[in-house]
Amino acid sequence: MKETGKVYLVGAGPGDTKLITLRGLECIKEADVIAYDHLVNSELLVFARPETEIIYVGKKGYHHRVEQEKINQLLVEKAMQGKIVTRLKGGDPFIFGRGGEEALALAENNIPFEIVPGVSSAYAVPAYAGIPVTHRGLSSAIFVTGREDETKGKSQIDWQKLATASDTLVFLMGVKNLPLIIEKLIEHGRAKETPIALIRSGTTMEQETIVGTLETIISQAEQNKFKPPAIIVVGEAVNLRKKLAWFEKKLEVTPHPNPLPQGERGRGSNMIGILLLGHGSRQKNAEREFNLVSNVISTLIPYPVCQAVLGNGEPTIETAVENLINPDIKKIIVAPVFLFEGTHVQIDIPDKLNNLRLKYPSIEFEMTDCCGAD
Ligand SMILES: C[S@@+](CC[C@H](N)C(=O)[O-])C[C@H]1O[C@@H](n2cnc3c(N)ncnc32)[C@H](O)[C@@H]1O
Repeated sequence: MKETGKVYLVGAGPGDTKLITLRGLECIKEADVIAYDHLVNSELLVFARPETEIIYVGKKGYHHRVEQEKINQLLVEKAMQGKIVTRLKGGDPFIFGRGGEEALALAENNIPFEIVPGVSSAYAVPAYAGIPVTHRGLSSAIFVTGREDETKGKSQIDWQKLATASDTLVFLMGVKNLPLIIEKLIEHGRAKETPIALIRSGTTMEQETIVGTLETIISQAEQNKFKPPAIIVVGEAVNLRKKLAWFEKKLEVTPHPNPLPQGERGRGSNMIGILLLGHGSRQKNAEREFNLVSNVISTLIPYPVCQAVLGNGEPTIETAVENLINPDIKKIIVAPVFLFEGTHVQIDIPDKLNNLRLKYPSIEFEMTDCCGAD
């Protein structure tokens, strides 16, 4: 009989891939199986071995109990087959991450496991927005879930105690319930002028922050069509952002998103190139149609675009990247595109990406989610 494997419950950090811990990275490299959530930056998967089985178990919004049980079962089954399983979870596995439930399921089935804490979005996302959640003389902090368990009928939060218990309140999963949160805070003693910040997709290139007061924030969020995932920070600490908003300043140097005239495409500093990477089919007509689509895309977006097909197709990834590179290119976004029969990212894409990173160390390579039939 095969020896039981092991499960690592790993915090993958809040979004910026570099915020994973060294131990977390080791667990990705070691894994036979990786099961990951929707808030995990999938670029981290490039560090997995080519033969690693990669399973997406994420689901936006509410995790139904059944689904959580299926995930627990999957971890137990794979470990019982003798596999090393890395369960990658957004942020920290034990902070609003249901990591405790997964660990209990493993313990009950006598599966060896390790917990690898991660950098939680609860404080890292405010930090990237220039908001220290605690600040001497100004603020202590409490972390709260803004999502209530709908099956429990009445609110689990004691709003009277919470509203004024701490200068800074940090809500996770609160966007859907923002009006309720605001109503309860004001009802239980927070001033309408209290500063509040909503930070979406923190620590990533898409980070977006809205700052207002308890009185104004709902209409601001509506105007901006503000969407989750987001962290909500309430309290005077939000004002420190005026001096400390460092990360969004860094994002401002990215190129102008409006299409440039054809002749200008590819010029300028900090330029980005796009590599469309077809994979998933050997059919000739699939590759021909991919060529057509790539040509259309390249006329629509302001960045230089090239394409490659994995496997025996032409051009190869190496030739495509050579064609794309010029002295201005600082970053190449690699977009895997399914050609007809593809169902998951081809296993050697992460390997190819690693090779490119080694070959061109001055260029940042970023992989997007897959486009095409799924
Ligand atoms: C199920 S909880 C998981 C929290 C996670 N375990 C952690 O420690 O960060 C999901 C919530 O985390 C917050 N979140 C996670 N990543 C985020 C990000 N990059 N930007 C903003 N909020 C994020 C959002 O409030 C989201 O609804």
